[in-house]
Amino acid sequence: MSTSHAPPGADRPLLHFTPPSGWLNDPNGLVRHRGLYHLYFQHNPDSTDWGNLHWGHAVSRDLVRWEHRPIAMAPDEHGLIFSGTTVADDRGTSGFGAGSLVAVFTHDDGGRQRQSLAHSDDGDTWSKFDGNPVLSPPAGIRNFRDPKVRRHDGDDGSWWTMVLAVETELWFFTSADLRSWTRSATFRPVLPHRDPILEVPDLFVLRDETGEDRWVAMVCAIPTREGGPEARVFWAVGDFDGVVFSPLDPTEPWRALDDGVALYAAMAWDRADGADAVAIAWLDERLDTTGIQRPWRGRMSVPRRLDLRRFGGRPRLVQQPVLPDGETERCTTRPGERAPTFAAGRCAAIAVELGVDQRRSVELRLHDPETALTTTIRVQGDVVAIERPSERAPATSRSALDPSSDERTLLVVVDHGSLEVFCDGGASQSFVGWEGTSPIEVEVTNIGATPVRTEVRRWTADRL
Ligand code: FRU
Repeated sequence: MSTSHAPPGADRPLLHFTPPSGWLNDPNGLVRHRGLYHLYFQHNPDSTDWGNLHWGHAVSRDLVRWEHRPIAMAPDEHGLIFSGTTVADDRGTSGFGAGSLVAVFTHDDGGRQRQSLAHSDDGDTWSKFDGNPVLSPPAGIRNFRDPKVRRHDGDDGSWWTMVLAVETELWFFTSADLRSWTRSATFRPVLPHRDPILEVPDLFVLRDETGEDRWVAMVCAIPTREGGPEARVFWAVGDFDGVVFSPLDPTEPWRALDDGVALYAAMAWDRADGADAVAIAWLDERLDTTGIQRPWRGRMSVPRRLDLRRFGGRPRLVQQPVLPDGETERCTTRPGERAPTFAAGRCAAIAVELGVDQRRSVELRLHDPETALTTTIRVQGDVVAIERPSERAPATSRSALDPSSDERTLLVVVDHGSLEVFCDGGASQSFVGWEGTSPIEVEVTNIGATPVRTEVRRWTADRL
């Protein structure tokens, strides 16, 4: 395994947000305000290890180019600043002034977790509420965190709703003023784990192909038992009445958003003012085994536009990466043919159109000539399988695709050490490892019975 040490900053991703230096984990407080996407994030400015958590801050107009802003919130006498939401309080119900942005977040004081408020006029400068904390757990509860807050405006009235991760459950609360909260419901998602600790719930609206609005809930689960499934983000489609989320099928297990190992704590900017809902997640760089030392650790996933698409009559969450235009190269391969090798560089998206025929199959090999390591991505039938070299053994991961999907597109995004693989109607697979740390070569082989079209888009720092 290569241990090439790039000069600090030289291998910073182009399409993935990174902190200027220090540690990054969950996205927080995602809000669109006055034409800007605000991204807050779990941040340790003093070290590349988890701890000492602040809310870092950045803004973007297009979700591609980010501008770093000063740190939004630092730890205080109530503890570290853990994950949470930002809402625009247009009517001033919280008493901080009409139009204020209000952050509702978890204060963690050595494991004692309580919810607190801060407010801001512009999203840059934040004042903590002097009545913090506003919501404490009942006796005996330790894991009590990551409030997702929304405004409910219905025929039955208007109020604030909160969904909170509480041990193995989601608890719902309501409030008139964001300061005083009443517990309204308890919910347990159907997950592949037994008794996982839940974290970072999210709840948002998407429109399906028929024009109908549906609610989507997401939650992270960390296993509490050996040998079971790994930590993952899960989602379900359903309804929300301002009190509790109800999945369309209450017995159906929630589905993984991503079948790779790096992606966690996904969260979405709401659909608003004609803009689509877009999710972003933390890619955990502690899983990078290259030994490359950087002044920062942790990056965000590529932002993903969210949609609901019907497969076999059921709405499913699909994700499409938000990518800028770039220099492109195209080719078509016939059955059995291998395309001339593409030089993809360090930052590229490889889009493969597999067509509608059931006998479609393709194999992509991402090769790093410097380390001689190769990752293989194979779409065969209804399975996307990825084989990655690691220090121990090739690691294989799989996603099942929906057999009723009529059109199939594989989209692979590499960017200075991260790999994200998208296939219509299946979970993405995201990794942080060696892929694309040095300029990579891409080989596309058509192993199916129908033609395959490939387009490679490349980006460099001076041409983004
Ligand atoms: C998820 C999480 C959250 C918590 C935050 C602390 O990765 O553990 O539950 O608020 O990170 O950094």
